[in-house]
Amino acid sequence: MELLKNILVVLHLIGWAIVLGGTLTHLRTPKIAVGVLHGALTALVTGILIVGVAEMSDDLRDPDMAKIAVKLTVALVVTALVVVGQRRPEKVTTGYLAGIAGLTAANVAVAVLWH
Ligand code: HEM
Repeated sequence: MELLKNILVVLHLIGWAIVLGGTLTHLRTPKIAVGVLHGALTALVTGILIVGVAEMSDDLRDPDMAKIAVKLTVALVVTALVVVGQRRPEKVTTGYLAGIAGLTAANVAVAVLWH
């Protein structure tokens, strides 16, 4: 169970890295980069699966649900911004991308600093 959880955490982190990297590299030529939506969905799904695996296992610590609620809310906003930005490219500005990157970075801080 621990190995499964750790593999999911690796995919979770790679997913958010794709969102952050894809967004920051396009700040000067604002658009939603190819792959960013897949990164967001991968990270969202793996995040939910990690919660499920941790809840099911007797050995793993149960996740802090208040922290998960905050992260899930922010992640859903990030994913919605990515979807809207892909469908309506004219809406995507440097500020729009900075919003996606800022919310993602804020969630990294919540993930690591909230105990
Ligand atoms: C922008 C969105 C998100 C970012 C940037 C993010 C980032 C991170 C980071 C950096 C970690 C590793 C640090 C740690 O283990 O505490 C982590 C772990 C984790 N994340 Fe996320 N996350 C996001 C969204 C989510 C969502 C939506 C869920 C669940 C619904 C979730 C569930 C988890 C869980 C369960 C862990 C493992 C914590 C543990 O080891 O006990 N995350 N996340």
